[in-house]
Amino acid sequence: MELQGKVAVITGAARGLGLAMAKNLANKGATIVINDLDKGLVQEAVSSLRQEGFETFGFSANVAIKNEVISMMDKIVETCGKIDILVNNAGGELRTPKRLEEIEEQDWDLVLNVNLKGTFLCSQAAVSKMKHQGGKIINISSIGGRTASIVTGVAYAAAKGGIVAFTRRLAKEVGPYNINVNAVAPGLVISGERLQETWNKMSEEEQNSVLDDIPLRRLGQIEEIARAVGFLASNESNYMTGAVLDVNGGRFMG
Ligand SMILES: NC(=O)c1ccc[n+]([C@@H]2O[C@H](COP(=O)([O-])OP(=O)(O)OC[C@H]3O[C@@H](n4cnc5c(N)ncnc54)[C@H](O)[C@@H]3O)[C@@H](O)[C@H]2O)c1
Repeated sequence: MELQGKVAVITGAARGLGLAMAKNLANKGATIVINDLDKGLVQEAVSSLRQEGFETFGFSANVAIKNEVISMMDKIVETCGKIDILVNNAGGELRTPKRLEEIEEQDWDLVLNVNLKGTFLCSQAAVSKMKHQGGKIINISSIGGRTASIVTGVAYAAAKGGIVAFTRRLAKEVGPYNINVNAVAPGLVISGERLQETWNKMSEEEQNSVLDDIPLRRLGQIEEIARAVGFLASNESNYMTGAVLDVNGGRFMG
């Protein structure tokens, strides 16, 4: 229970990797705040964690909209007293096309706004709450921002690569306040039905070519990503800041 007494906010956490991260931090004793766009889904995730006996709250807000983010962070402090840990997880390719010529301006804006601007807005709002006490910010990048991924396109690469640069620069700026800023860059993980369908639709040959590029010869599991986040949220990583943990079975070695 090393995170007993800590308040952890995880964005985009009503399902998938974010929900697994929330469970990992809850198991370490943290009070959990689940953010996501969809109110109904947030409520379902909150009730399922509460049923497991974890102290959990939920706030639906769009991480790409400044007013919503500021109001959410204010309400979290009113409800929970403080914010110790922020995981900027909301994001993804958000059903936008992958190939350059098919990407419309609104696709580019959506991917950059949710992944990169959302990380900026949530960090900015949370740092103002953490400055007097210290804290941990964990940004979710991707293998797609670390190397040329075959699964994702240029908008996603720009957003997730931007998150790595943002992580380093912010770590330098807020280190003196005892705020650690690190990133996790997952490889391909079947985090829900949509990715499961995409994987199932691939031929055995295509699946094998993905697996052949991974030295550990398998996809990651959601808990394996959540454990990296749990480590960065804990005291075990107190002397790490500005780092990126590549959790990808060796597909990219930084
Ligand atoms: N699954 C993978 O293979 C993989 C690999 C590398 C990185 N990632 C990253 O991990 C994170 C989680 O991925 P996932 O696979 O669990 O995705 P997911 O689609 O299952 O979950 C993402 C969640 O973010 C929420 N969300 C989307 N836009 C939002 C917004 N504007 N404000 C608040 N919430 C919003 C969605 O509603 C959804 O619940 C993403 O940042 C993704 O890019 C995933």
